[in-house]
Amino acid sequence: MSARPDGPLVLGIETSCDETGVGLVVGHTLLADALASSVDEHARFGGVVPEVASRAHLEAVLPTLDRALELAGVRLQDVDAVAVTSGPGLAGALVVGVAAAKALALGLGRPLYGVNHLAAHVAVDTLEHGPLPEPAIALLVSGGHSSLLRVDDVTADVDVLGSTLDDAAGEAFDKVARLLGLPFPGGPHVDRVARDGDPAAIRFPRGLTGAGAVARDGTDHRDDFSFSGLKTSVARWVERARDEGRDVPVADVAASFQEAVVDVLSAKAVAACRREGVEHLLLGGGVSANSRLRALVQQRAEAAGLRVRVPRPGLCTDNGAMVAALGSMLVAAGREPSPLGLGTDPSMPVTSIQG
Ligand code: KG4
Ligand code: ZN
Repeated sequence: MSARPDGPLVLGIETSCDETGVGLVVGHTLLADALASSVDEHARFGGVVPEVASRAHLEAVLPTLDRALELAGVRLQDVDAVAVTSGPGLAGALVVGVAAAKALALGLGRPLYGVNHLAAHVAVDTLEHGPLPEPAIALLVSGGHSSLLRVDDVTADVDVLGSTLDDAAGEAFDKVARLLGLPFPGGPHVDRVARDGDPAAIRFPRGLTGAGAVARDGTDHRDDFSFSGLKTSVARWVERARDEGRDVPVADVAASFQEAVVDVLSAKAVAACRREGVEHLLLGGGVSANSRLRALVQQRAEAAGLRVRVPRPGLCTDNGAMVAALGSMLVAAGREPSPLGLGTDPSMPVTSIQG
């Protein structure tokens, strides 16, 4: 095994939704990323059940910690700082991670850093591609959030340019997947099925684009998203086909829906970079694992002379490494640790990097 790099060993704990993640990082080097998921327990409900998620975190957090330490070949006593997602997320789920992190920080006598889950989705790319280019525009697309951010310093200065007015992009993927009879969470299944479909088969609406980007009252929605109209449009199309006794062409519907989502996401992200005069575009969150989104963003960004950074798919979805990555950056930047009375904030805004 190669020697561990020099620097503080930072432990990261993630429990904001249905993944229990524990990561270990030194600087920008990932030593371990252990994950336990309760996704199978939620599948039959078609969405994450908060109580089920909380109980699963309770059962998984210590075994996952042990696995991370073993993977990294370090002892608990070697940990120099403890980072944990303190928001946003499911209240009961967040509490489990924060309680565990506090106990560890107190027991080990090490500093505690409550961190923002969304900022962690941006920071995780450092583990693969090194320090973040700043300023950058980040397109953050997950099951709970869809935002365009201006990141001047991910440890201290993140601005929201726009966000979704209704459903998150991942939520739209999950709902459309359900409509098509695909398992939960639907994003990866839509991605897979769409490969055999024609993205131009059905022209679904692109919300808040073109003239629709400016509301009647003059409100500028150029950096905002709306996916509920698209979801309804897909539902109507499928309903009509079934009413008329036609077979639903699942691959074509999936591909056409996916194309509508990624067309909007990539166009808005590139436009925001150009308008802000920012050369670097970062992708983060579960939906950035989508193969078509990755390809189209790359293509459009290149044509616009922009540079794109996107983590490997396994680091796009929720994990503990992303929390450790941001914790490690906070430690390196000399930021104040959180008090041991750290609470959870289920609706923590992305502008608050630390809890
Ligand atoms: O970031 P994440 O793991 O959890 C949240 O913070 O929400 O994102 C989960 C979301 C789910 O909606 C899932 O369907 C979506 O990311 N997702 C994908 C893909 N992989 C995960 N959506 C589209 N294509 C994918 N390949
Ligand atoms: Zn997430």
